Amino acid sequence: MASVTSLSDNVKQHLASALSATLPEAAGADPLLRRSDRADFQANGILALAKKAKANPRELATQVVSQVVTGDVIEDVEVSGPGFLNVTIADRAITENLAARYADETGRLGVPYAERTGTTVIDYAQPNVAKEMHVGHLRSAVIGDAVVQLLEFTGESVVRRHHIGDWGTQFGMLIQYLDEHPHELDHKASAADSAASGEEAMSNLDRLYKAARKKFDSDEEFKTRARRRVVDLQAGEPQTLAMWQKFVDESKIYFFSVFEKLDMEVRDPDIVGESGYNDMLAETCRLLEESGVAVRSEGALCVFFDDIKGPEGNPVPLIVQKSDGGYGYAATDLSAIRDRVFNLKADTLLYVVDARQSLHFRMVFETARRAGWLNEDVKAHQLAFGTVLGKDGKPFKTRAGETVKLQDLLDEAVERATAVVREKAEKVGLTEQEITENGRYVGVGAVKYADLSTSAVRDYKFDLDQMVSLNGDTSVYLQYAYARIQSILRKAGEARPVAHPELELAPAERALGLHLDQFAETVLEVAAEYEPHKLAAYLYQLASLLTAFYDKCQVLSADNAPEVVENRLFLVDLTARTLHRGMGLLGIRTPEKL
Ligand code: ARG
Repeated sequence: MASVTSLSDNVKQHLASALSATLPEAAGADPLLRRSDRADFQANGILALAKKAKANPRELATQVVSQVVTGDVIEDVEVSGPGFLNVTIADRAITENLAARYADETGRLGVPYAERTGTTVIDYAQPNVAKEMHVGHLRSAVIGDAVVQLLEFTGESVVRRHHIGDWGTQFGMLIQYLDEHPHELDHKASAADSAASGEEAMSNLDRLYKAARKKFDSDEEFKTRARRRVVDLQAGEPQTLAMWQKFVDESKIYFFSVFEKLDMEVRDPDIVGESGYNDMLAETCRLLEESGVAVRSEGALCVFFDDIKGPEGNPVPLIVQKSDGGYGYAATDLSAIRDRVFNLKADTLLYVVDARQSLHFRMVFETARRAGWLNEDVKAHQLAFGTVLGKDGKPFKTRAGETVKLQDLLDEAVERATAVVREKAEKVGLTEQEITENGRYVGVGAVKYADLSTSAVRDYKFDLDQMVSLNGDTSVYLQYAYARIQSILRKAGEARPVAHPELELAPAERALGLHLDQFAETVLEVAAEYEPHKLAAYLYQLASLLTAFYDKCQVLSADNAPEVVENRLFLVDLTARTLHRGMGLLGIRTPEKL
């Protein structure tokens, strides 16, 4: 059996049986256990139970203590305060438990699969065709990718959907312009490597977009031709569709180059943009209208809500079809829900989308519930994220004015990180190639970690100086912790990591060990609640406990007995594996030498 029962679960079971032996009506009650500074764990569930049973909490606690089986896992348990239980774990149990995690041949470090799993369709990394990607798209990609890794790790079936903006009236203008200037999207023959062609693709699109817009705004006849082109596109006129496809393909070259820069896998078949639901739109509207969920209002098909108000406090309807017959963003999202629920058989729909679209999703979800597409068994959730701010605390400018190009941002992060890596390169013995590679992993890791280490809904400041700092809550700090362990393991020579449960543990070893044991619970909780920042916090604490451990305990000291060296190597190696796993779940690499 690969999965390992955590010490806290073990203690919980011990306390629960002592509790129900003392107070039969408390059978199944949660002893409310948590890590504590006073002891290894503290349980404070007895207070509420005593109140319910009209008993004195301290007396009840004392009775429970007398029923607790001590020896194997629990070394000692005592009553403290008004009726808390302080639990101390046996050193042997800590080491044995960690040894079982270390021995897990699946590489899961003893982490069990989630008790209940299903199919989640996750909508993330959804930029717009013919437009520059901005920092908001970065957040969706980074958070979404971490959530995908986390969910898959817990055994969930995950279907990825990149709902790119590849449909809409602006394509009429673009297609018409391209038709009149046919070579604007051609690639120069010299662009050999894919990174260059990604940037070239974007600058082609950018140039064309600007030129088309200029003509559209200044030339009435062009405007008319462009409008006619939208109708052709929606009617599926072959030549128009072929030109539209050119825009999509050109944009994908660019998207893939950015995702590659982000060290992130995005697969072509998972890109199902707005256009992918085109054939469902009329049917979606018909279903909504026939069931009475949507009604005609001044020609438009609308859904009304009593409880959903706009920013000014007045009720706002969801417009499913405009009075001119056009379909918008909402009709597409409602169709996507039908596809995901009925074709992809999802039981959870997850949307990693900017918090500024929350009103849209509330209305769309509520509409889908009324239509019966969402219900008790099929749930939808927006994992809303906040705005990325500049150092000045104002949002990074996009569309209008000074655009912050995503590639430039990533390039700069990598450049800074490479400088940081280079500083130590000689001492560590890095080749030029390793410096480049590590610079990339550190730079991209820094950007991802900054994004993932604060709760998603909060805005955060994009501050490169802080992100690549070696001290503090940064990915580099965690990457160094990992690399330092690898360096110790390399220096260990003949000595190998071996667990020695018979050894007494120093306080810093116990603290590290007990935290390592909590990896499983942390991962399961973080996945269930879509909160990668809690995994980041866990890992940061792990690295801090490791630093505290180095302070007090030498690993490769000549003064240590051989079994102490082996046991400490084992402890740090398990720490390294946990860091590697955890960082991997966040999409961040851990270089071996740094
Ligand atoms: N393309 C949209 C944007 O850039 C995000 C799409 C979100 N997903 C969705 N199903 N609506 O804002």
